[in-house]
Amino acid sequence: MPGTEVPSEPRDGRSAGPAPSQEMLRGTPVAGSIAPGLPVYGTAPGARDSAPERAPDGVRAAGSRPRDRAPACGDPERGSPDGGAPDTMGPMTAVSPSEPAAQSPARSRVSRRVAAIAESATLAVDAKAKALKAAGKPVIGFGAGEPDFPTPDYVVEAAVAACRQPAMHRYTPAGGLPVLKEAIVAKTARDSGLALTPAQVLVTNGGKQAVYEAFAAMLDPGDEVLVPAPYWTTYPEAIRLAGGVPVPVVADEESGYLVSVAQLEAARTERTKVLLFVSPSNPTGAVYPPDQVEAIGRWAAETGLWVLTDEIYEHLTYGGATAPSMPVLVPELADRCVVVNGVAKTYAMTGWRVGWIAGPADVVKAATNLQSHATSNVANVSQAAAVAALTGDLSAVDEMRTAFDRRRKTIVSMLREIPGVACPEPQGAFYVYPSVKALLGRPINGRTASSSAEFAEIVLEEAEVAVVPGEAFGTPGYVRMSYALGDDDLAEGVGRLQRLLGSAG
Ligand SMILES: Cc1ncc(COP(=O)(O)O)c(C=O)c1O
Repeated sequence: MPGTEVPSEPRDGRSAGPAPSQEMLRGTPVAGSIAPGLPVYGTAPGARDSAPERAPDGVRAAGSRPRDRAPACGDPERGSPDGGAPDTMGPMTAVSPSEPAAQSPARSRVSRRVAAIAESATLAVDAKAKALKAAGKPVIGFGAGEPDFPTPDYVVEAAVAACRQPAMHRYTPAGGLPVLKEAIVAKTARDSGLALTPAQVLVTNGGKQAVYEAFAAMLDPGDEVLVPAPYWTTYPEAIRLAGGVPVPVVADEESGYLVSVAQLEAARTERTKVLLFVSPSNPTGAVYPPDQVEAIGRWAAETGLWVLTDEIYEHLTYGGATAPSMPVLVPELADRCVVVNGVAKTYAMTGWRVGWIAGPADVVKAATNLQSHATSNVANVSQAAAVAALTGDLSAVDEMRTAFDRRRKTIVSMLREIPGVACPEPQGAFYVYPSVKALLGRPINGRTASSSAEFAEIVLEEAEVAVVPGEAFGTPGYVRMSYALGDDDLAEGVGRLQRLLGSAG
C-alpha cells in the first residue's frame, strides 16, 4: 500500500508486550473472496483500467449532444469571494519590509475554496439544541442524524480487546486493515449480492470521508454532478471541494421525493459526469422502488455517466420496502459505479467513524493514495469494532428498525394532525421531511416566519423543539425531523409542535 508505514518492530527498543494476534493485519487471497454466481464489480463488458471515457478537456468524448448548462447548485450565494473573517487581526508574526507583493492584504486570509464551505446545518442545529439543553432548557432535538441506541456490546468488547493489542497502537495500511476489507467484501456479498475484491475497498473515516474522497477521485474541475434534491447537506460541499459543480434535480412531495429518469435527462449536459444516488434518502426517508433504481441505473449506463450510490441506510427500510444496490440491478454500470457505505447508522456507531468506498480498483486506488496523505489509516480500534459489527449478525439492527418503525408511524400521524403541515410517509432511514409552506406568513405565537429557516428558529425559541430547516437540503419550505430519539421525547416534542402550531393563522 503506497504511503503507509507498518512498523514490524518496536521502534523505541521497548518490549512490544505479549505477541499480538496478527490476524488483524493479515489478508486472505483475493480470489477466495469472490462469492460464486454474484455480479462481479468492474468486469462489465468493455471495462477498462482507466476510468472515464472523457476527452482530455473534460468533455464527454463521443455519443452525447452538446447541451445548455443546467443551473448550478447554490453558486451565487456561496461565501463572498474574499471569504473568511475581516482582516482586522493583523499577521501572527512580523512581516519583513521586503515581503513580496503576494503577501499583500488584498489576499484573503482563508482560502476562497475553503471559505465557501457552509457550516453543516444539521450539526449546527444539533449543537445549538445541545447547548440550550446544557443551559437547563428542556429542548427536544429532532436534528441529529444518529440512532439513540448504544453500540451493541459485542462490538464494544471487540474494541476493548483491540486496545490491548500493541499491533493496534501502530500505523496500519492507509486503505484499511485487511481483515476489515475482507469483512466488507463478505458483508457486501451477503447484504447486496455484489462481488468485490479487497482491492476494490477503501476504509474511510466514516461515510463522510468516503463521499469526499470518492468525488475527489472522480471529478475534474467543472465536472457536473446531478444531485437529487432535497439532498444531504454534505454532498454539494464535497462536490465543490473536489472542483465539481453540483446540479440539483428537485423532486417534491408530490412525487414522494423521487426523481425520474426524465428529470435527470433534462438536467444532463455535456459537462455531466456523475449521478449521485441515495436510497433510503437523507433528508426525506424516500426509498426508490427496485424498478426505478434499475431504470435510473440503465439510463446512467446508457448515457456513460458515473454513479456514486450512497447505501448507508440500506438496512433501515419499513413496510416491505427494500433498497437494492444499483450495480447489482445494472451490472453493466459496475465499472463506473462507486458505492459508499459505513457502520454508523446500521450499528449505532456514529462516533466510531468507520465507512468505506467500494468501487472500480482504479478509483479506489486513487482515493487510497489521497487518504494516505490526508489522514492515513482509520483508528485501528474503530476498525476492529467494525470487523465485529460486520461479521456479526443483524439482530441489533432488527431491534433498532422495529423501534424506528414504531416512531415513524407515531411522528407521521401526529404531524398530520397539525393544520398546514403536509407529511409524506417515509419508507426508510429515520427522517420525516414535512412541508411547512402553508404555515409561512401566518402568525405563530405573535411571530411570523417568512422562510423555513425562520420557522425553525421560532419553533426552537417558542416550543424548545429543534428541527433542521429545508434550506440546508436545497429545498426551502420544509423541515427535516429525525425520529431517532426516545418514544417519550418524540411524543412530547411533536405534542409541543401541535400546541404551538395548532393556533397558527
Ligand atoms: C446519506 C448519508 N451518507 C453518509 C453519511 C455519513 O455518515 P458517517 O460519516 O457518520 O459514517 C450520512 C450521515 O448523516 C448520511 O446521512
